[in-house]
Amino acid sequence: MAFPERFSNLPDYAFPRLRKLLDPHAPGGEPVAMTIGEPKHPMPEFVGPVLASSLAGFGLYPPNDGTPELLAAIGGWLKRRYRVDLGPERLMVLNGTREGLFNAALALVPETKRGARPVVLMPNPFYQVYAMAALALGAEPVYVPALASNGFLPDYASLPAEILDRTALAYLCSPANPQGSVASRDYWAGLMDLAETHDFRIFADECYAEIWRTAPPAGALEVADATGADPERIFAFHSLSKRSNLPGLRSGFVAGGPAGIARIRQLRAFAGAPLPLPVQRVSERAWADETHVEANRALYQEKFRIADEVFSGLQGYMGPEGGFFLWLPVPDGEEAALKLWTETGVRVLPGAYLAREVGGENPGKGYIRVAMVAPKDEMQRGLVRLRDCLYG
Ligand SMILES: Cc1ncc(COP(=O)(O)O)c(C=O)c1O
Repeated sequence: MAFPERFSNLPDYAFPRLRKLLDPHAPGGEPVAMTIGEPKHPMPEFVGPVLASSLAGFGLYPPNDGTPELLAAIGGWLKRRYRVDLGPERLMVLNGTREGLFNAALALVPETKRGARPVVLMPNPFYQVYAMAALALGAEPVYVPALASNGFLPDYASLPAEILDRTALAYLCSPANPQGSVASRDYWAGLMDLAETHDFRIFADECYAEIWRTAPPAGALEVADATGADPERIFAFHSLSKRSNLPGLRSGFVAGGPAGIARIRQLRAFAGAPLPLPVQRVSERAWADETHVEANRALYQEKFRIADEVFSGLQGYMGPEGGFFLWLPVPDGEEAALKLWTETGVRVLPGAYLAREVGGENPGKGYIRVAMVAPKDEMQRGLVRLRDCLYG
């Protein structure tokens, strides 16, 4: 039986690849996992009671588009966080942002652009679902380096006009996984101008928007609102996974123009998995509450402080502006990850596993990604061992 060609050239997913690299070797100390970006801070206390009081909802097919109460809670959060006023016709609930970033591309990217194969732009390194979406669409993925020299944000405007004219969609992650860089208002506004000039959509992956160091990162929706950008060009994706430490709830949403949202709803009505009603009830409560989010952010801010202290004076160290990863420069990420594991038991991800080689260059090769998700003391011990092993 044949398999589709379009997925045949994919590299192994980062984590099986990491297991292949490290697992044949014994750890050199008590293992500390700093690989997967799975939030470990406590989930909000209301989750259990709200779930328990809405169990009967498992006996019903859930509403595809989200309950009116959930959409209202999301709208309320957008108003508080970004000062934008979006009605329910501009919102769609998702089973987390990963599937949304994939399915919304299927719903919105046309088969051709100006009579040719459409292009999907993404930063390099990047969250891997962007490339899967491009390949599933039969679009051409264009990996645009996000390097220290450009503030770890892709310079889409520098691409040839031929590519930009074929571009149907550009992904941008802010705060970025893996580098923790944050797109400024000017960056967003420039990207929106470029999208208008070359007629493409922007998918703003903002699932780390609530984990920041000094000031809340600007959001694509507020910049679009302030600059009068066409709302049909800009779709922002948000999640409860990092904001509320609920990665297992599988709950997020996308906000955008009403015509695009209608297409996303249509695809999901035919082929999607709606959020179970009890999950919608918990989500409604989580979007309406800021107390647990502030407590969670304070824990990450303490971790940023610890990381800054551990790596103070290290050349090339830049503490993240947001998110919960460190992106640390090393001569070779795979060699560094292997050395760290075999000498100390600390487990990190080689940066190359999150990026694609383009023109013989992999922009992640000289980095390791370190997730600051473990409890504070364990994380601190891991960072000190890492520093002494790789930079001592
Ligand atoms: C950049 C980025 N986008 C999206 C996601 C997906 O998150 P979720 O599907 O849990 O909302 C992740 C998860 O790690 C991520 O790092």
